[in-house]
Amino acid sequence: MKLVGLVGWRGMVGSVLMQRMQEEGDFAHIEPVFFSTSNTGGAAPSMAKNETTLKDANNIDELKRCDIIISCQGGDYTTAVFPKLRAAGWNGYWIDAASTLRMEKDAVIVLDPINLNVIKDAMAKGVKNFVGGNCTVSCMLMGLGGLFKQDLVEWMTSMTYQAASGGGAQHMRELLTQFGTINASVKPLLDNPASAILEIDRQVLATQHGLSADETKQFGVPLGGNLIPWIDKDLGNGQSKEEWKGGAETNKILGRGLDFGTAAIPVDGLCVRIGAMRCHSQALTIKLKKDVPLDEINDIIANDNQWVKFVPNTREASMRDLTPAAVTGSLTIPVGRVRKLSMGGDYLSAFTVGDQLLWGAAEPLRRMLRIVLD
Ligand code: HSE
Repeated sequence: MKLVGLVGWRGMVGSVLMQRMQEEGDFAHIEPVFFSTSNTGGAAPSMAKNETTLKDANNIDELKRCDIIISCQGGDYTTAVFPKLRAAGWNGYWIDAASTLRMEKDAVIVLDPINLNVIKDAMAKGVKNFVGGNCTVSCMLMGLGGLFKQDLVEWMTSMTYQAASGGGAQHMRELLTQFGTINASVKPLLDNPASAILEIDRQVLATQHGLSADETKQFGVPLGGNLIPWIDKDLGNGQSKEEWKGGAETNKILGRGLDFGTAAIPVDGLCVRIGAMRCHSQALTIKLKKDVPLDEINDIIANDNQWVKFVPNTREASMRDLTPAAVTGSLTIPVGRVRKLSMGGDYLSAFTVGDQLLWGAAEPLRRMLRIVLD
């Protein structure tokens, strides 16, 4: 059995990965080696077989024993350890959730329901570095992949509504703390049906503006009852890094762009943080290469993969099925609000939602493991 090193399995993405691997019986096919950055020698979790103690995640010799390593430890760990491991002659498969290596020439962004051909081609050429994509991009492609595979997309803009979890576990806690502080500040007024709504609104605003540095440590500003129209670094050209990833990673996943000898599909838009917990949503405007009838479009989207759920463009279905609360914890990727826009028959709208910890992070990694093991 292949020796599979697991690093960062205790964090948020790592925990979701462990849960999914257990649900899918992945541990039956591997000999897991659990690594730790803080508790070397401690007891490995119950999924361990022969490797019952935690190994040092910074020990290159221990890591070198593994045939495959899956890391959810984050970008700093990858930056520090991966080059040393390769320099030490390790030739195993590196499967990583962090963005560090994503755009490297010798790395493939994995999302096999969309790009199994790209993954297989790379494996045949000896590529050993496989990296999970940006959560927003992965969730979008799981929903709209059919249109890209049929080469129907001339360009696309995405306006995102990204959940707190994209920032990390502490960000989710901070959002809830803010909601609690805001609620507490107006609770007596809310409990009194005769109180004035504008007085409540004034108090909410005063509370938001008065949140302590501790209560805004992660996001920098209030997110509860607010939104933040910027995610990740400022690239200095008016674009955020998250927005840049939309175009760069979509094309790399699809095997398009200069590196593949084809023209890239322009994908760009604005990325916005909202007060959802762990589902990223996005409103898409798609310029089609031709005016395809709506029923055909619907079929192409619906039939692309088993996780897409086509949501009829009605008020009732959209409210029921096309929200973060409806999707959280599930692998289903609903796509709805699909209609031709008034700009013309080749302009399409769509709205999609995805659990950013599942398809956006953990799921492509465990599926890549199974591809390597096959
Ligand atoms: N960068 C994403 C976000 C999360 O901040 O929502 C991970 O891809």
